[in-house]
Amino acid sequence: MPSFSNLDDRRGCKNLTIRSVQSTQRMCAAPLMALAAVFALVQAPLSSQAAGEKKLEVFSWWTSGGEATALDALFTVYNKQYPGVEIVNATIAGGDAAQRALHTRLAGGNPPDTWQSHPGWELLGDYVEPGYCQPVTDLYKSDDWDKAFPKALVNLITKDGNTYAVLVGIHRGNVLWYNKKLLDKNGIKVGEKMTFDEFFAACEKLKAAGIPALGVGDSGIWASALLFENTLLGIVGAEGWTDLFSGKMQWSDPKVKEAMKLFAKMQDYLNPDHSTLSWDQAVKALMEGKVAFNSMGDWADGEFLKAQMKEKEDFGWVSYPGTDGSFIIVADGFTLAKGAPHPEAGLAWLKSIGSKESQEAFNPLKGSIPARIDVDRSKFDAYHQWSMDSFANDKLVPGCVAGEAAPAAFRQALNDAVTTFMLDKNVDNFAKALVQAAKESGATK
Ligand code: GAL
Repeated sequence: MPSFSNLDDRRGCKNLTIRSVQSTQRMCAAPLMALAAVFALVQAPLSSQAAGEKKLEVFSWWTSGGEATALDALFTVYNKQYPGVEIVNATIAGGDAAQRALHTRLAGGNPPDTWQSHPGWELLGDYVEPGYCQPVTDLYKSDDWDKAFPKALVNLITKDGNTYAVLVGIHRGNVLWYNKKLLDKNGIKVGEKMTFDEFFAACEKLKAAGIPALGVGDSGIWASALLFENTLLGIVGAEGWTDLFSGKMQWSDPKVKEAMKLFAKMQDYLNPDHSTLSWDQAVKALMEGKVAFNSMGDWADGEFLKAQMKEKEDFGWVSYPGTDGSFIIVADGFTLAKGAPHPEAGLAWLKSIGSKESQEAFNPLKGSIPARIDVDRSKFDAYHQWSMDSFANDKLVPGCVAGEAAPAAFRQALNDAVTTFMLDKNVDNFAKALVQAAKESGATK
């Protein structure tokens, strides 16, 4: 499955692994028929769509305030570039629920034209492998896209020489957000980086003041799985991460168990209503000063922006404890459905979201950085600048909760194991469940 060992090749073609070199070569020799088919789609006028409909159905789980606003910015650019197409905004709240509904539609032969997906295992395993996606390789041969998108990222959406998505933005998964004023009030200062000791010291101080330190909204359990994922990276580091997902390190390794123990300890500082809140409601609780910290990918930044919170005044951020120097990639892309009801409008959508104009409009609102590397940095705020620097300089690792690093069965097993562990805090059982899941899901093959 996907090769992540070449993620350091974020700017060009250097350091490609043998596997990606092979897939690059295969791309050059891609069957002409497939290319011709895509080319024909690019050429087809919008007016020739099914039953003369000028429609586009876009499927995603972008329903929170920040997400919806950013998605809207993509629609605005699309409408400008391709006037007269009616956009059907098909959203379902919550990534897991949305993905379940999407699978039902795809299996039933009723695809939306395009849907949100993460690169790596999720895109290639869940959608490309069963034949739900149309390759869009040709898009990367026009408009300098081969230079605009980092090769390493394109490799994660490419299989057997065919590319199956367009990436619109890259989130950093391992961020710890905080309510600046609340911390100031409690005499807590966060520096450039944070250790677990510093984090727990702050938690204790807040607990003594009657404040739940760590806000979690895990009505979708993935939010707690993400907290564990970040804790894990904080202990095993980027190298350990790669070893875990390649099978070199076991999920029962003492280091993994150490991360599990820290994750268990954190449960003492959670907001009591965490299981009733969605991730964005927990971010709201932070803005309202009900909790101090939130460990969340930088889609949280989209919520702060939407609420007009001021960076470094109202809210602040730091790499999640122990993860300074690493960047968990949570990249968002869109596909073109095989058998899309409106293929030309779908392809035009991908062309549009890959344009500089879209990426500069969308990402400042979403919290992510553009997937393109040729954007105007001055259009981005301090958080984005920080994240761009991190992406350029830090060790890049694929997200597991986001479905990039492991197959769907492993993600599901992780979610289940996290649910159980939050109740019983049994480290050995947690480790055993993950060892078994890695074996059974083929995560490390
Ligand atoms: C992630 C997605 C982000 C954000 C988040 C919360 O999977 O990549 O863009 O939407 O879910 O909904």
